[in-house]
Amino acid sequence: MDDLVAAGSIKTKEVEAAFRAVPRHLFAPEVSLQDAYADDIVRTKQDQHGITVSSVSAPWLQATMLEQAGISPGMRVLEVGSGGYNAALIAELVGPTGAVTTMDIDADVTERAHHCLAAAGYDQVHVVLADAEHGVPEHAPYDRIIVTAGAWDIPPAWTDQLAPDGRIVVPLRMRGLSRTVALTPRDGVLVSLDHQMAGFVPVRGDGAHPERLVQLHDADVGLRFDEQAPELDAAALRAALLAPRVEAWSGVRFGGMEPFDGLLLWLASSLDDYGLLSRARSPTARELVDPVSPIGTPTAVEADSFAYLTLRKVEDGDDTYEFGAYAHGPDAARLAGLVVTQVQAWNRTHRDASPATISVWPATTPAEALPPGRVIAKRHRIVVLSWS
Ligand SMILES: C[S@@+](CC[C@H](N)C(=O)[O-])C[C@H]1O[C@@H](n2cnc3c(N)ncnc32)[C@H](O)[C@@H]1O
Repeated sequence: MDDLVAAGSIKTKEVEAAFRAVPRHLFAPEVSLQDAYADDIVRTKQDQHGITVSSVSAPWLQATMLEQAGISPGMRVLEVGSGGYNAALIAELVGPTGAVTTMDIDADVTERAHHCLAAAGYDQVHVVLADAEHGVPEHAPYDRIIVTAGAWDIPPAWTDQLAPDGRIVVPLRMRGLSRTVALTPRDGVLVSLDHQMAGFVPVRGDGAHPERLVQLHDADVGLRFDEQAPELDAAALRAALLAPRVEAWSGVRFGGMEPFDGLLLWLASSLDDYGLLSRARSPTARELVDPVSPIGTPTAVEADSFAYLTLRKVEDGDDTYEFGAYAHGPDAARLAGLVVTQVQAWNRTHRDASPATISVWPATTPAEALPPGRVIAKRHRIVVLSWS
């Protein structure tokens, strides 16, 4: 707890009091006390491939999202994705005059959440088995909707069931990057109040939206494409990876403890032909590529060539690194230059300025009515990333 306060995940006394009140181990009976109170997820269900489909989220992330939500006593809150523990924290925050509904698409999860909530004395929480895509109209309107599964879009049900001055907190995937975004309605548009880096198990059911994966070297290295993929020659890209790489360096330095999620979002905004390079943990994968993040690193991709963000330690610097680009393919030098130019542009203009604003528009909005920025077309909405 003290660590969450020290790290800044818990900011307010209300959220701190909720964390102190709810015994987390009652919502993680499968694991030891030590694991229940570690700042990590507790996996509660895996699919047939061993992939986690449900968990009790990590405390730092729960705290971050509860702070983003700004919950007050008496509010009505919908939690999408149930583990039990977060719903109990919300129940503490809304108090006896508020109402909490938690929903999950998976009957095993709702049953488990129901059981744990009752055992911990929170049986006032409504636990509902349903698909997030359709919300839970019977308990609406909600002052807050907190989504705890990775969403690709904002279904109409969420805005229909939100109170006029409500707030949605959702881990939203945009060009493959996930950010937990606090959104509030303004004249028919949802506008971000805050966003933070966060990964979640993806939404299943009617709102699921799998990415396209192009494998570049078996399961070692791949390129992921989220909304639309550029025209690619997969065989040429695979051959390019095995050819010698080209590198370019930006002169932009940063400290080892400094976050650079703003740079990743800037590259996702500024590169037109774009994907995310992902790398397995295998020694072969490490030999082939060295991206800033193995999960997904912004990459400029054109037909037969690609360039991704990397970093190197600065010789004379104490825990200091420099951003650069590694590139492969016939057009490698030009693409590496493109990535490095965007790193420099971010450093000059955005590094110390306000973060991007994320706005979410109806899918029918004409292009000329949208603000300047990267326009990302979804099924129900258009998301725009705007930089001041
Ligand atoms: C990270 S877990 C939820 C964590 C939980 N809120 C807690 O207390 O920490 C994500 C949950 O989202 C659920 N989920 C995925 N897709 C869903 C959907 N379409 N509708 C409702 N729940 C969904 C999964 O079944 C999983 O249980």
